[in-house]
Amino acid sequence: MRVEMDAMTMAAVEFAEKNQRRFVEELKELLRIPSVSTDPERAGDVRRAAEFVAAELKRIGMQHVRLVETITSERPGGHPLVVADWLEAEGAPTVLCYGHYDVQPAEPLDEWKSPPFEPTERDGNIYARGAVDDKGQMWMHVKALESLFAAGGGKLPVNVRVVVEGEEEVGGEGIAAYVREHGEELKADVALVSDTEMFAADLPTLCVGLRGMIYTEIEARGARTDLHSGMYGGAAPNPFVALAQVIVQLKDAEGKILIPGFYDKVATPTDAELKAWKALPFDEEHYRETEVGSVSLTGEAGYSVLERTWARPTLDVHGMPGGFTGAGAKTVIPAKAVAKVSMRLVPDMTPAESFAQYKAYVERLCPKGIVLEVRMIHSGDPIVVSTDNEYVRAATDAMHTVFGKETVFVRGGGSIPIVGDFVRELKIPTVMMGFGLPDDNLHAPNEKFHLANFYRGIESIVRFLSGVGA
Ligand code: BES
Ligand code: MN
Ligand code: MN
Repeated sequence: MRVEMDAMTMAAVEFAEKNQRRFVEELKELLRIPSVSTDPERAGDVRRAAEFVAAELKRIGMQHVRLVETITSERPGGHPLVVADWLEAEGAPTVLCYGHYDVQPAEPLDEWKSPPFEPTERDGNIYARGAVDDKGQMWMHVKALESLFAAGGGKLPVNVRVVVEGEEEVGGEGIAAYVREHGEELKADVALVSDTEMFAADLPTLCVGLRGMIYTEIEARGARTDLHSGMYGGAAPNPFVALAQVIVQLKDAEGKILIPGFYDKVATPTDAELKAWKALPFDEEHYRETEVGSVSLTGEAGYSVLERTWARPTLDVHGMPGGFTGAGAKTVIPAKAVAKVSMRLVPDMTPAESFAQYKAYVERLCPKGIVLEVRMIHSGDPIVVSTDNEYVRAATDAMHTVFGKETVFVRGGGSIPIVGDFVRELKIPTVMMGFGLPDDNLHAPNEKFHLANFYRGIESIVRFLSGVGA
């Protein structure tokens, strides 16, 4: 059944259309706040972004708008959650709208065509760090709610709770603790998450699975202090070489992870999923050329690119801080080196077991003369959500009206740690309706959000919320 366009939905859609420019200008204000959650020096900006979102939720008519602190003695750097609700639609279901206001670091800065925190419009896109991940998509929720409030004379067609976190990009521990300890404050029938991508331009997409992850550091220590590499080279251990020797044994040239037992719990996607993925409009050569930009793709033989990125675990090295990285040459044997290594997990792997297997293996590989420490920075569970419920139908109906096309179901290779907790702790289905594009440069220089998708996203969410309330 397609959702009939009732008068209130129509008025909300019209309101959103009339106010498009204002919505974009407001989003720009939010994008100017450099809320980089991983950088302790930006803590004030992160809080400012939370306050900005809270003020707007209050202005549009949400109730009980508050910042929930997540600082604990173990986590002195915790960033606040923005929480709000409006629960006066008697008898109607409750939708929990989730987003995050924190962003990834913008570096390397010199690769941006316009500065990351000076949002700039070019060719129908808005460029800024956080434009699509996730400030722009979170703003779609806020603006859809504003449009519905405006059309309903201060009332919504459905009950709504909102939770916006400031630590998604650093693992989301604060919101996880809140869901565990105060789950009743988020009690809802369904969660709506807009923090994923469309499979292709103009193709309405629901994301039904995410990889989990463990993010780790391996610290290698050799000599007591840095040493002259001529005087001591040959006799003193080198922690960088040691890390290289460890890393090369973590994954083979065919992309297979060599940690014993790592694949034991990997679940194979269903035949129906694999068949649906084969039918998606995916051109591997185009993907290699335009999205990846490398001379060839890598990874496990026998698996398609979509299987490799959605349904297989992987391991990556992000950086190796330490030693000498300045201009020119310095002949030193560094006393210590660090490797930042993460693994993406798929159902039914668990972060705790995978980390234990990894740690034991790395410690076994420790080269002579070196002391290794393996530590977990953060983790999140992999998840596949159910598609057989009325909320998924409300979402596909809403997007059908907006895009005029049937929705495709995909998984995402990325992680949103809290989605697993919504399903497991709150026991509610989650609808991941995202409007990013494959070339939006998430986490990279020149991140953007296609403005047409910002508008279509708002309309889709207006229609989804009306549909759930109907
Ligand atoms: N929005 C992304 C996750 C995403 C992107 C899912 C594209 C599906 C498609 C999210 O903000 C993100 O980047 N998450 C981090 C989580 C991590 C730091 C725990 C990630 O995946 O690296
Ligand atoms: Mn995100
Ligand atoms: Mn992200």
